[in-house]
Amino acid sequence: MNNMIILKNIYKNYYSSKKIEVLKNVNFIFKTGKIYSLMGPSGSGKSTLLNLISLIDKPSSGYIKFDNLIIDQEDNDKKDNIRSKKIGIIYQDKNLLSDFNVLENIYMARLSLDNNKKKAVSDAKDIIRKVGLDKRLSHFPSQLSGGESQRVAISRALINSPDIILADEPTGNLDYNNAKEIFKLLFSLKNKNRIIIFATHNRHFANISDCKLNLINGKISSIDGGN
Ligand SMILES: Nc1ncnc2c1ncn2[C@@H]1O[C@H](COP(=O)(O)OP(=O)(O)OP(=O)(O)O)[C@@H](O)[C@H]1O
Ligand SMILES: [Mg+2]
Repeated sequence: MNNMIILKNIYKNYYSSKKIEVLKNVNFIFKTGKIYSLMGPSGSGKSTLLNLISLIDKPSSGYIKFDNLIIDQEDNDKKDNIRSKKIGIIYQDKNLLSDFNVLENIYMARLSLDNNKKKAVSDAKDIIRKVGLDKRLSHFPSQLSGGESQRVAISRALINSPDIILADEPTGNLDYNNAKEIFKLLFSLKNKNRIIIFATHNRHFANISDCKLNLINGKISSIDGGN
């Protein structure tokens, strides 16, 4: 990614029994090399915003640009392709496929790039070693602690060397020490070609990001170190 993610006049509404306006004219430029935290009350739209950036969901209006190109929200194949090549996503839980072991969970994410299993397995093993889980290669997700599961989730998100890493409350289910370790790992992934955005309810972890964003009343309302 040569530069940035641009959000322009983004609105997002949901319709259940009535219309819910979640995002109301969000404008923001995320720049490479930076790590962003996203805070805001429960229900303020943090996950909604991350789901738009990950191209899992689409805005009601407005547009998103990657590398200065507007994303065609109707072209699902293209969006899937961009997501698998450019974006690593980490959720609070349920990141892993329960019927597959640690190695499989990680290397399978690499196959979407070029279907080279040998390379995928060897890359997966390298990453697993880096996150300190080489002794857990053949464990299944149910046999891992919460902290270990999140290390695997990060490894999986990382295997395609994504330009964008999105983490939605990645430590929401962990105790403080494990959360600290996971954030240490997440921050170590920062590099000049990458944008990292994480949603959190924890002020301490938000404070150590390069740029603190606050979602309130459907807008990014308080910005520290941003544009
Ligand atoms: N698929 C959906 N259909 C209808 N409403 C939805 C849907 N997804 C989210 N919402 C609503 O949109 C609002 C924002 O939800 P969102 O999950 O983005 O909040 P959040 O900031 O991530 O909250 P939390 O901190 O609890 O994770 C909420 O009011 C939620 O009920
Ligand atoms: Mg959320």
